[in-house]
Amino acid sequence: MSPGGDPSEERVGYEVADRFGDDEDVHIGGVASLGDVPSPFGGERDPDPCSLVIFGVTGDLAHRKLMPALYDLGCHGVLPFGTTIVGYGRQELDDDELRALLQGSIDDHYGADTIDGSLCERILLTPRYVQGQFDDPEGYARLGAVLDDLDAGGTRGNRMFYLATPPSQFGVIVEQLGASGLARKGAFDAESARGAGVPGWTRVVIEKPFGRDLETARALNLEIADVFDERQVYRIDHYLAKETVQNLLVLRFANGIFEPVWNRRYVDFVEITAAETLGVEHRGPYYEEAGALRDMITPHLIQLFSLVAMEPPVAFDADAVRDEKLKVLRAVRHIPRHLAARCAVRAQYVQGVVDGDGVTAYRSEERVAPDSHTETYAAVKLLVDNWRWQGVPFYLRTGKRLARRVTEIAIHFKLPPVLLFREPAGGGGLQANVLVLRVQPDEGFSLNIESKLPGHGTALQPVAMDYSYGTTLNELPFSAYETVLVDAMEGDMTLFTRGDQAEEAWRIVDPILDEWAGKPQREIPIYEAGGWGPETADALIAGDGHTWRRP
Ligand code: BG6
Repeated sequence: MSPGGDPSEERVGYEVADRFGDDEDVHIGGVASLGDVPSPFGGERDPDPCSLVIFGVTGDLAHRKLMPALYDLGCHGVLPFGTTIVGYGRQELDDDELRALLQGSIDDHYGADTIDGSLCERILLTPRYVQGQFDDPEGYARLGAVLDDLDAGGTRGNRMFYLATPPSQFGVIVEQLGASGLARKGAFDAESARGAGVPGWTRVVIEKPFGRDLETARALNLEIADVFDERQVYRIDHYLAKETVQNLLVLRFANGIFEPVWNRRYVDFVEITAAETLGVEHRGPYYEEAGALRDMITPHLIQLFSLVAMEPPVAFDADAVRDEKLKVLRAVRHIPRHLAARCAVRAQYVQGVVDGDGVTAYRSEERVAPDSHTETYAAVKLLVDNWRWQGVPFYLRTGKRLARRVTEIAIHFKLPPVLLFREPAGGGGLQANVLVLRVQPDEGFSLNIESKLPGHGTALQPVAMDYSYGTTLNELPFSAYETVLVDAMEGDMTLFTRGDQAEEAWRIVDPILDEWAGKPQREIPIYEAGGWGPETADALIAGDGHTWRRP
């Protein structure tokens, strides 16, 4: 804290204002104003300092994602001073050992030589460690004592519980937080905390996967609702926090030219792809239980789908945006189990070559059953029964060990009704316009259009209008986990999944999961690592006269 300054003004690193520039008074003539609308993605409210309690602090997620993100927040100057990390875990550690562990995570991520040591000092301040089993009431009593102690200091009584544990532990941690009185039900922001007679807000951040089907997601929602108010619950989908995904809403609703064509009249079909070159790394046991449909499609790709397909919200606040997302999820046509094979494809990779290196088959990965029939690739076709999208297929696909790491949303527009010009050079017919939003890597977007080939005559050639973050903007984008953390500290729920949305996503995929679970394992198709997935996936969309992009 600066001497005599308001602690809320204090930030670790450089100033907040840098993030959005100084020009607050930009007005565009003729645009109906919705008044003092907060930014859709936070940044207008200040993040509050808090005790950041990380359950599973010694685990992979804390190591690979949370600590680098906290460091980055410090670099961006938005980590509120006073924020104190409290680790809760089963291992025996003391505060100093925790500090060394957290420092090690930052060093591992950025290299000990390149990081700013004094910034780390300030971020890590004096972390506290509480050893305990996740179901041990005494552990929560010790945690409570540490938090009471911190409440009196720079955290201003705010508490954020981050559940970075295996999903099997979510229920029991929530239950214990309730039983120990740490949940402070209803204290979701400063005002409600005052009303509840507690010094600050309490929020819980829950990682994915949220349940493993509709039934378990419902049960988890009920357990959570017993203990917390929904406004205290931040269900993470880190895909929603990716810069380009956020930009999708800006692209749609801050530009006049896209919305009029964003419908069944002009759009032919939509592809949403999340292709990875990585295999399952060291996560065999988790992945064996999950598979591609649960791991990627149900949380991430269905969320992306809902942002592409939703109606314009009446305001850019968490409820309005999430209401629209829920509505479009509800409009997704039910896939009856007996039709699952026509709407969904699964497959598993066998050995192949990725980025020039030979890689093993999924069944030979560490801690994977040699006869596993878990899918590492999944593709799903969704139809939406509403006025905007009737008849427009949305194809979602994801896979491990594919040819390239790429996540993108491709909106394929219809061809013009009549072709007046000669075939494009090289033949191949007229290319329809495609708007591609590149989520990662090389974040940006491009619009493919037909253009005249220079010279005599009117031969055509497809060209791309391209915008790339890397070359156009000099800004250092926030990583997804930075955004998640800072939004939760600000109390901005827009990018977090509401309980009803999580259930609706399971409603969509449940019959597919049931159908796959009922099939004998010899029926799982295979694909070669380093390729673009199984032929059955091509057939899934070829039936509609379409082909997947090979980005
Ligand atoms: C996680 C999945 O949610 O997302 C992983 O569990 C996957 O299997 C990861 O690899 C991909 O995230 P990103 O941000 O690297 O695209």
